[in-house]
Amino acid sequence: MIASNSELASAAGVEVLQQGGNAVDAAVAVGFALAVAHPEAGNLGGGGFMVIRMADGRTAAFDYREVAPLAATRDMYLQPDGSASRESIIGPKASGVPGAVAGLTAASQALGRLPLRSVIAPALRLARDGFVVDSAFARSITGSRARIAPYAGAALFLPDGSPPPIGSRFVQPVLAHTLEQIADHGADAFYRGPIATAIAEEMQRDGGLITSADLARYEAVRRAPLQGSYRGYTVLAMPPASSGGVTVIETLNVLETFDQMPLFGSTGYVHLMGDAFQRAFIDRNGTLGDPSFVVMPIDRLTSKAYAKQVRATIATDRATPTGRLVPQLTEGSQTTHYSVVDADGNAVATTTTLNALYGSGVYVRDAGFFLNDEMDDFATRPGLPNMFGLVEGPQNAIAPGKRMLSSMSPTIVLDPAGKVFLVVGARGGPRIITSTIQVIVNAIDYHMGLMDALAAPRLHDQARPDSLHYDPSGFAGPVLDSLTAMGYPMAAGGAAGTCTAVMRIPLGWAGAVDPRATGGAVGY
Ligand code: DON
Repeated sequence: MIASNSELASAAGVEVLQQGGNAVDAAVAVGFALAVAHPEAGNLGGGGFMVIRMADGRTAAFDYREVAPLAATRDMYLQPDGSASRESIIGPKASGVPGAVAGLTAASQALGRLPLRSVIAPALRLARDGFVVDSAFARSITGSRARIAPYAGAALFLPDGSPPPIGSRFVQPVLAHTLEQIADHGADAFYRGPIATAIAEEMQRDGGLITSADLARYEAVRRAPLQGSYRGYTVLAMPPASSGGVTVIETLNVLETFDQMPLFGSTGYVHLMGDAFQRAFIDRNGTLGDPSFVVMPIDRLTSKAYAKQVRATIATDRATPTGRLVPQLTEGSQTTHYSVVDADGNAVATTTTLNALYGSGVYVRDAGFFLNDEMDDFATRPGLPNMFGLVEGPQNAIAPGKRMLSSMSPTIVLDPAGKVFLVVGARGGPRIITSTIQVIVNAIDYHMGLMDALAAPRLHDQARPDSLHYDPSGFAGPVLDSLTAMGYPMAAGGAAGTCTAVMRIPLGWAGAVDPRATGGAVGY
């Protein structure tokens, strides 16, 4: 069973499963297929994280996050007046060195069963033979017109200034050629061969920083997943350079200090959820970064003892302003998640991104893909909010070769018997973390079926700005009134990321996509 933001990509994964591939082969196939069929977020020019749990108990986490180019400097986006420029968000200077191809090929080699050529084949076909433009794809291009139009991708994505017509076939021959080179020569084609040259040339043309040397030294890192527990379930999650796992586990630990969750949607529910998010994000924003550059108190933040200390700071009857919990940080959209399980019970959770939809807008004309704008995930100036309003400390400042902190939270939950129960993750910047947690809690505490767990109204609090976001149609007026009376800075909207997930059901597996997003689940 595979759930992703593109039904074509999910089907590509199923094709590989049916050929005898395992969940890792399928996940790699979906990753490449998303780069073709969901180019707003699926990518070769971005990066991501993959958490794997094999049926025999082995686990792995692949960190293929982008890194800052060697020529990057801490204050490169600071303007003379102290504000941050838009260059971290759009245009050639916004891109980190892409990690996607290194990560997907490393996972395939380490734990896949089929040769790379076989798992790339469906993506290659989608690029070469094309796929039919649907209304969602056309709308997504229109929404990012200003980002795409100045760069080389305009010729393909905005012929005559508009998206290709709905119902027409979208063919990407240059991308097909790139995929063929990767199928033949592996990651070397991308990092040391003709694709590297195409990226470096595009950068030189446009004033970007990524060079052949940056590409040649890029490496995906295999890490051990973080392991937490929640009410007898086991949580396997992504360690830094993503903040996802630490923040998911810390929040769940805090919730677990309460024997029972309050009634879903009640004042008590919002109070507890919001306060747990707020505390976990304070720790996230102030302490987490690239493990090669910063020392982090991960064991402490993910411990049950620490959760008890955090719980003691939660008042029973009122909100706590973030400023009272942490006076100030000391100075010193777009993504896609997919979940895969195979017939043997191997499971893979992957989240990958270009950051904003269509990334930096810059398109590598001789290789056929967009480059990310992930540099904005650094604290371009510690204390200043980024694209998602996140305010982070100096531990996430820019440095050459450093990974920018992420919120991506690919997560695998095992049931008390140790069998895969839920494979989940999301897109939506910091809302990835809070949405992923809420789907887990909906499934475990509220016993919701998968579709309900994904559709249920959501909350979001990232500590700064100090506001508690909620799905406007999801919470009763009197509940909102009492939260306001308790001192919560309630904010309608901006509460939800979009999740995709696979869940064990008595007859097998359910797969589903958040009703707030497009995509599809495919099984066999
Ligand atoms: O890594 C991160 O946390 C962000 N680059 C994710 C961006 C994202 O989810 C965009 N989607 N709305």
